[in-house]
Amino acid sequence: MKIRKILITGAAGYLAGFIIERLRSKYELTLTDRVEPKSDLKDLPFVQADLMNYEDIERVCEGHDAVIHLVALVRERFDKPAWLFADVMVKGTWNIAEACATGSVQRLVNISSISACSPLPGAELPYRVGEPFQFSSGGLYYALAKYLGEQVGEAYYQAHGLSVIHLRPGVIAGDGLNPGPKAPASLDQAGSNEPWFVYVDPRDVAQAVELAIETQDVMYGSYHVVAGREDSRFDWKQTARELGYRPEHNWPEIPERR
Ligand SMILES: NC(=O)c1ccc[n+]([C@@H]2O[C@H](COP(=O)([O-])OP(=O)(O)OC[C@H]3O[C@@H](n4cnc5c(N)ncnc54)[C@H](O)[C@@H]3O)[C@@H](O)[C@H]2O)c1
Repeated sequence: MKIRKILITGAAGYLAGFIIERLRSKYELTLTDRVEPKSDLKDLPFVQADLMNYEDIERVCEGHDAVIHLVALVRERFDKPAWLFADVMVKGTWNIAEACATGSVQRLVNISSISACSPLPGAELPYRVGEPFQFSSGGLYYALAKYLGEQVGEAYYQAHGLSVIHLRPGVIAGDGLNPGPKAPASLDQAGSNEPWFVYVDPRDVAQAVELAIETQDVMYGSYHVVAGREDSRFDWKQTARELGYRPEHNWPEIPERR
């Protein structure tokens, strides 16, 4: 698989900025979003489009070898109705997968979330991809939409051979909603040694995206992208083994629970 031209959806968003920075010297990037990206990205081609409009998305995908799909309801998601999550995140991801499969796109890197797979109460941690998980009422619309987005990707891999790699970032530090981790007050208390760390630095997510674009060994899979700590709640070592992920920003100033 030879990837040269990459389309980035949700390109005006927070995480996209780090991914664009990482990839722009190596690939021909096209940006798309329903709003214009920041002024420092003005030198890259940008197409304004709403992901819910299939014809627009099909046209934007045309001629690309890969798509990095970031659109979601993120910071503005609170108090929004279920149907909007279904439209933007499920229908939107379906539109992207369909446009990829019917066009020239060989690989879809779908930015999912650890929210797609909350571990069962009392489960052994860190949570590994494929283990049982459960939904809860808090954040259900977002979590369910992320889960269904992965299902859409799997269906297109099975039915059309589209290579799909889902990356599940942890909580992205500094995104404007989450200031970043703090050592919990209970760190030294008895019984508090359960893995708890759910954060990731956006530069490490960008690293994982580059690896997902470049791997020749993985055609389909889901991978957690979290800090490389022994107390991470979600397993990142599979991502290290299979994609070569080497997280570099791991908050060493916060003691690890072991
Ligand atoms: N921020 C986090 O902590 C976090 C954690 C895990 C996963 N993620 C995932 O990472 C991705 C990027 O997150 P972010 O923090 O950069 O979010 P963001 O809100 O900054 O970016 C999302 C972008 O999607 C665009 N968008 C929304 N609806 C659209 C539509 N209908 N058509 C076209 N564009 C549309 C928005 O304009 C925005 O620029 C998302 O998929 C998110 O779920 C984020």
